[in-house]
Amino acid sequence: MGSKDKSIVITGGGVIGSCIAYYLTSHPRYDRKSHTVTVLEASSIGGGASGKAGGVIASWAYPSCLAPLSYRLHCELADKHGGIQKWGFRHVYCADVDAMGEAVGHAATTQDYAHFHSHIFSSRSNKQFPPELDWITPDKITSYTELGRPENTAQVHPHLFTNSIADAAIENSARFITGYATSLNQINNGGQIKSVSYEAKQTNELNEINATDVVIAAGPWTKNLLP
Ligand SMILES: Cc1cc2nc3c(=O)[nH]c(=O)nc-3n(C[C@H](O)[C@H](O)[C@H](O)COP(=O)(O)OP(=O)(O)OC[C@H]3O[C@@H](n4cnc5c(N)ncnc54)[C@H](O)[C@@H]3O)c2cc1C
Ligand SMILES: *[C@@H]1O[C@H](CO)[C@@H](O)[C@H](O)[C@H]1NC(C)=O
Repeated sequence: MGSKDKSIVITGGGVIGSCIAYYLTSHPRYDRKSHTVTVLEASSIGGGASGKAGGVIASWAYPSCLAPLSYRLHCELADKHGGIQKWGFRHVYCADVDAMGEAVGHAATTQDYAHFHSHIFSSRSNKQFPPELDWITPDKITSYTELGRPENTAQVHPHLFTNSIADAAIENSARFITGYATSLNQINNGGQIKSVSYEAKQTNELNEINATDVVIAAGPWTKNLLP
């Protein structure tokens, strides 16, 4: 961050934007007297994919340059902020399962069987065929391959996780604004950021926040801000 005052604006309050706000405001060189971190979220924190994902984290996931770090940080965050209670952090088994499905609401005929493929998450132990799989008729399971074990796999409630981390960032003095970023404004259009314009959600009012740095974390909408 250097010694200069920073006004950092993060567009998007999904898991990425909320975690960036948290880690920036937790940084030893973050000084709440001279730096500001503002998250602009168009709908609500974790309102997109981040609130609705499967929430699976695994040190064996991809990309291998990031997944082990992400997994370790998730474990640390859960320890530090009571993630078991706050966002349902739990270690799980994870498996790749092939099974024969049956159409619901039809008289079952062989034509109604569909092949499906799914990850099954199970919080209790058993390698070959966990008892938790009792919601699939056992003779319909054609294969069960373990992918992860509790020591390298976990799951969070993604909406609670994203909101808890946003709350922790707010405790660290980050500011969250509900508004839709409409443009990133540059000094003389020269590539150096000056401010972010946004439409406030409640009032539809157009506002501007001064910014020295902008982080675009708008998920699939990122291209609306940076074509
Ligand atoms: C069904 C499903 C299951 C998944 N399961 C897993 C899983 O098990 N494990 C895993 O690691 N990942 C999983 N993922 C992927 C994971 O959800 C995403 O990688 C992650 O949520 C992306 O976070 P994000 O913050 O980049 O984006 P988003 O969650 O999309 O957040 C972007 C935010 O930006 C806001 N926004 C957009 N435009 C603007 C604007 N102009 N101004 C202000 N705000 C704006 C949006 O409202 C949104 O809240 C899954 C995804 C899906 C859909
Ligand atoms: C934003 O920057 C402009 C130009 O430097 C300045 O005049 C204005 O007071 C700043 N606004 C805020 C809220 O800091």
